[in-house]
Amino acid sequence: MVITMKFVKELSVSQGFGEDFKELVRSSTSLADLVSETVALKPQRGGSDFVGLCPFHDDRNPSLHVYPDRQSYRCWVCDAGGDCFRWVMEIEKVSFPEAIESLARRAGLEVPKRGRSFTDPETEQRKSDSYAVLDWAASLMQQALRIGSQGANARSYVEKRKLTEETVRAFRVGYHPEDWNWFLEKARGKFDVRQLLAAGLVGERPSGQGYYDNLVGRLVFPILDERGRVVAFGGRVLPGGNIESDNKYWNSRESGIFHKSRMLYAFDRSREGIRKSRTAIVVEGYMDCIACHQAGVQNVVATLGTALTEEHVRFLRRFADRVVLTFDGDDAGQKAAERSISRFLAQDLDLRILTLPEGLDPADYLERQSAESFSSLIQTAVEAWEYKLQTVVRRYGMESISGRQQILNQMLEFLAAAPGMQGSVREDLILRTVCQRIQLDERTARKQLKELREKGASQRLSRRDAEGPRQDAGFVPMEADGQYVSAVSADQEHTRLDFYDQPMVTQARALELAEREILEIILTCPEFIDFIRHHIGPDDFENSRHRRLLELCIDVRKEDGDLPELTRLVIAANSDSELLSLINAVVDSSEQKGIFRLMNEQTLASEHDGIDSVPLYLQRVLGPLLERREKLRNLLSKQRMAQTEASTSELNSDQKDVLRQLYSFRLNQMGRRIRLK
Ligand code: UTP
Ligand code: MN
Repeated sequence: MVITMKFVKELSVSQGFGEDFKELVRSSTSLADLVSETVALKPQRGGSDFVGLCPFHDDRNPSLHVYPDRQSYRCWVCDAGGDCFRWVMEIEKVSFPEAIESLARRAGLEVPKRGRSFTDPETEQRKSDSYAVLDWAASLMQQALRIGSQGANARSYVEKRKLTEETVRAFRVGYHPEDWNWFLEKARGKFDVRQLLAAGLVGERPSGQGYYDNLVGRLVFPILDERGRVVAFGGRVLPGGNIESDNKYWNSRESGIFHKSRMLYAFDRSREGIRKSRTAIVVEGYMDCIACHQAGVQNVVATLGTALTEEHVRFLRRFADRVVLTFDGDDAGQKAAERSISRFLAQDLDLRILTLPEGLDPADYLERQSAESFSSLIQTAVEAWEYKLQTVVRRYGMESISGRQQILNQMLEFLAAAPGMQGSVREDLILRTVCQRIQLDERTARKQLKELREKGASQRLSRRDAEGPRQDAGFVPMEADGQYVSAVSADQEHTRLDFYDQPMVTQARALELAEREILEIILTCPEFIDFIRHHIGPDDFENSRHRRLLELCIDVRKEDGDLPELTRLVIAANSDSELLSLINAVVDSSEQKGIFRLMNEQTLASEHDGIDSVPLYLQRVLGPLLERREKLRNLLSKQRMAQTEASTSELNSDQKDVLRQLYSFRLNQMGRRIRLK
């Protein structure tokens, strides 16, 4: 016991700061303010909590909740959660002591000297070494570009590219002289070879013949992270120099502090510009990015020799509503553009594509034209779908019917593949415009798109079945794309009547949707729980997760007499993350579908205790579930009857019950159809 206590004590002391200081920092920090530095938060429930898009997974519906009173946050989907320290550790990828320090500085508190680092001291040490080494190297190279005869060629190149002194300083542009041991020499007494190697400044000669410098004879662009720390370098070969290389650029390798697929060049300098304009311009090259900033266009970042990734987009979405991808006006640029957009049409953001005229890149363009004309060019950037349309029109030509059909096919595939588009106003508009443009019938196009989707959906569904329940454990219900199709709202007149004429897959899907909608209804209008549980029970649900949630709702009602309201359910779920994420998803999809509105649209008289009218919508959703049960029961009782050879004229009470329900539903259906006319 004593030993354990001592161990615990040591652990917490070794975190570097005392508990008191930690609590001081915590109480000096507003979590909501802290989080809103990276995520746009919306107040909820009169400001008692906040929601926003979770930065830890690809969030489409705000599922990150911040609870200021409890000083904690939690994502209901990916289950990330914690306090202000955890937040900083996750967002800035730093250790616990670093997080405390950062928050203390932010709160204007004096940081006490701390002891040893707690989390993996070796890695932490290596990281902070690398920052120091890289910063040192950057300064050294800046100096070599500024003064001395070795830098003359580089200086004249910089001049030729029209970079001002101020720009060179701001971007910390530097030069590595043509000397293969320059870093090695200069580091003497400061850093050892191991540290230079770890920072990627030197490489090891084959067969252990010592070391050589990287970046030799190149114009060097330091790559800074969000916090302005040097984490890597990109070095450009200089014309007129003595160093030959097949690669125009040499870039640092990925490391613990440098992630190409996540980082964007010059983000530290463009963060404010992006935030203010809610627009991020993404260019391909270091030079292009710098040229834009120099011209006064300050919301520009560059990818680091990679294509734009989902991670980049997720990151930018925290600051921008619109992303303009700028591609060079050459073939490679066009290809890159087309490759990128198919992935991002899906994203919930305004993605524009700009291709520059006649093989120019942004730097070339800005050498010839003003910043204003560049900005107005940016304004003309077309939406991703329009770019796609222009591309396929160029490819197939509008002259022939078959060419136009090809164009349509390509566009439909493009739309069908884009998650989140189905049934949206946006899709509607796109489809209409496309059809007008290529003069093909819109109705046929819609039918074709529907077929394409159904093919996709049934493939998805059978995939899910094949993969078993685990796949199902993610919260997204029917469609992997977060688009919730209503079981009844589409094609209302036909859904119910033709229900059992539909293929099996569609039936199963519609039933799963109905289950889901029952849950949406309960969470939106908990007062209907009694009516609902009078008609169906958990056994009527096939999806095991749906069943668990219905059970929970009924338990809350039965055992405590409480209505299954959201807050009550969350408590009852008792930190069960599967239930919590389903609850969260159900609330979201219910909002998305406007369940509340639907529930208030039309009502039918009810003989049910305590309720004088039942929403038509609820009845429609219940319909297929009851029908399924009725079928099952019929099957069962047929079997039983066959077994016992009992008289068929006598109905048992169960069967009577079913018949009664069925009768009342048929009645309601007729009522509905009459009313709808
Ligand atoms: P560009 O060739 O367009 O470079 O490559 P740039 O930045 O416009 O440079 P200038 O105008 O020729 O001086 C675009 C980006 O692709 C990556 C770099 O990130 C570069 O900025 N790249 C290019 C490499 O990583 N390696 C290469 O060999 C070439
Ligand atoms: Mn260029």
